[in-house]
Amino acid sequence: MLTTVVARANSNVALAKYWGKRDEQLNLPHTGSLSVAMAGLTTTAAVSLCRGSESDRIIMNGAPASAREGGRISAFLDLVRERAGRRDRVEVDVRTNFPVAAGIASSASTFAALALAAAALLGLVLSEAELSALARRGSGSAARSVVGGYVEWLRGYARDGSDSIAVQVAPASYWPLGIVVAVTDEGPKRVGSREGMARTVRESPFFASWLATHDTDLATIRRGVLARDIAAVGGAAEHNCLKMHAVAMAGPEGLIYWNPATVAVIDRVRGLRAEGLPAYFTIDAGPQVKVICPRPERDAVAGALEQVPGVRRVLLSEPGSGAAVVERA
Ligand code: DP6
Repeated sequence: MLTTVVARANSNVALAKYWGKRDEQLNLPHTGSLSVAMAGLTTTAAVSLCRGSESDRIIMNGAPASAREGGRISAFLDLVRERAGRRDRVEVDVRTNFPVAAGIASSASTFAALALAAAALLGLVLSEAELSALARRGSGSAARSVVGGYVEWLRGYARDGSDSIAVQVAPASYWPLGIVVAVTDEGPKRVGSREGMARTVRESPFFASWLATHDTDLATIRRGVLARDIAAVGGAAEHNCLKMHAVAMAGPEGLIYWNPATVAVIDRVRGLRAEGLPAYFTIDAGPQVKVICPRPERDAVAGALEQVPGVRRVLLSEPGSGAAVVERA
C-alpha cells in the first residue's frame, strides 16, 4: 500500500480570464477561460498517510498552515476521501517556489498538485478530465493547471459540474512563447480572487457586459493560439485583462489590485511595442504583470522590465507541462 505520493504542478496565466462563479459550492464559472502553463513556477505537494491521527497536518512552505489555509485544504481533502471511500487523515507538505497569494495563481498549482497526489495516495484512478474537475473544487484555476501547454477550461452546462473541465488546446511545444513576470510586490494581496470575484458578481454594474463580451475574446485567443499569432492573442488578452479589472473596479468597493509599478509596467510594455517588440501584458488578482512575447525576445523584455521603477524582480518562464506524480512510496 502506498504511504506517500508527491506530485508537482505548474502555475498558469490566464489569457482569457475566469472572473465570476455561477456556483460557489462547485466552483463553476460563468464563462470559459484560456491559459498557458508556466514552466518553472511550480508547487510540489507531498501527501502521506498519517496513521492514528484525528486531523490532517498541513505544512505550507515549511510552516504549519494558518487556520484559513489549512481549513480550505482539509475541506478539499474531505472531497477526495469521500470519493475514495476512505477516512485516512494525511500529512500534506506543500512547497511553492514563487510568491504565494500575490496574483501568480499559487492556488492553481497548489490544488492541481494536491488533487493528483491525494487522489493517487487514496487509490483513486482518475482520467485527466476527472482530475481537472476534482482540482477545480479546490480552486477554479487549478482545473487548468492539471493540463499542460495551452489550456481551455470549458464553462460546462451540467448541474453537477462534470463537464466544467480543462482541455488542452495545444501542447507547450506547439508555440514556444516567452513569459516574463514582473513582480512589483512580494506580499500577499488584500482581497483574494475568491472574494473579489464574488463581490464583482454581486455588485458590479458592468458584470453583464463582462459576460456579454467574454466569449468573443476567448474565441479570438483560441484561434490566435492555434495560428501562433502573438498580435491576435496579445491584443485580445490585454483587452480581456483590462475589462476584468474594470468590472472589479466598478463595484461599490472599487477593487483595485494594481500599484503604481503595475501601471508603469503596462506603460513600458506599450512602449516596447511602439519600438517594434511584440510584448503584451496581462494581470491577475494582484499587482504583478505577466508579459508574453516571442521566445527569442524574452531576455530583452525581461531586461527592460527590470529597469521599471518599483519592479522588485522578474521571473522567466515559458509554456510548461501539466501536473505529474514525481514520487510514490
Ligand atoms: C484573476 O482560481 O484563484 O487569476 O476558484 O475562487 O479559487 P477560486 O479563484 P481562482 O481565481 C483566479 C482568477 C484570475 C483569473 C484566472 O486565473 O482565470
